Amino acid sequence: MSSPDSPVSPASPDAPRARHGDTSPPSPDALNPLGAPQRHASALRHRTPATVPDPHDVHVPEQLRQEIEAHMSLYPDPTSAALPALAAAQRVHGWCSPEAIEQVACVMQVTPASLAAVATFYDMLETSPVGQHSVYVCTNISCSLRGADALFAEVQAAARKRADSESQLNVRAFECLGACDIAPMASVDGVYVGPLTTEDIEPMLDDVLAGRPVLPDKQLAVRLVADPNANSRPFPPHPVQAPQRHDQPPLALEHDE
Ligand code: FES
Repeated sequence: MSSPDSPVSPASPDAPRARHGDTSPPSPDALNPLGAPQRHASALRHRTPATVPDPHDVHVPEQLRQEIEAHMSLYPDPTSAALPALAAAQRVHGWCSPEAIEQVACVMQVTPASLAAVATFYDMLETSPVGQHSVYVCTNISCSLRGADALFAEVQAAARKRADSESQLNVRAFECLGACDIAPMASVDGVYVGPLTTEDIEPMLDDVLAGRPVLPDKQLAVRLVADPNANSRPFPPHPVQAPQRHDQPPLALEHDE
């Protein structure tokens, strides 16, 4: 929808993203869905659809409006709330659809194009319809070294086997999710679980589809940490250690005669 004299071509939400295991060179669109390298997001504000939506023309669900306004109130520049605002719209619409983006643009009083630029850049914002439950299997280095690639393939296969449920699942490989200490791990609807084994796959998918807590014993949130005040349950007793002896003379140092 760009005009002939538009400085940049339109952002393409359909520009292909690199997929896990894809070693072929990315297409120019995938490298730069927004246009040439020197073109950046601010330029998008000045091209079509460059019209800030009129609040009289766009219906925004009241709860979504309130959530976006709450995010905007937290920033000196309210437009900095683009990410949480888009995430909120994604929770309502299931993905960052044109309608969702227009509603956010209407509340934030920015152009849909500037928000499309954000949505196409950030991996956790979906620019096409996806299953409502996200299963992000980390395949970055720590998880990969502990078998994440095979694990991811098995999660995909298990999801495919559930023909009825597959459309509800958004199974993806993901870059490091910052929980390398529980590698290999996954984020299931935002809940971190790990270390995962192949035996965990079926119960994990059963739990998420049934709306139950996912793998309760493998959630990062319930893992014990060294700070006792940060734990949700007491540490198990330490194994008995040999008593420390303070009454023995220090070990004699051996000297060469
Ligand atoms: S590499 Fe998987 S969480 Fe960091």
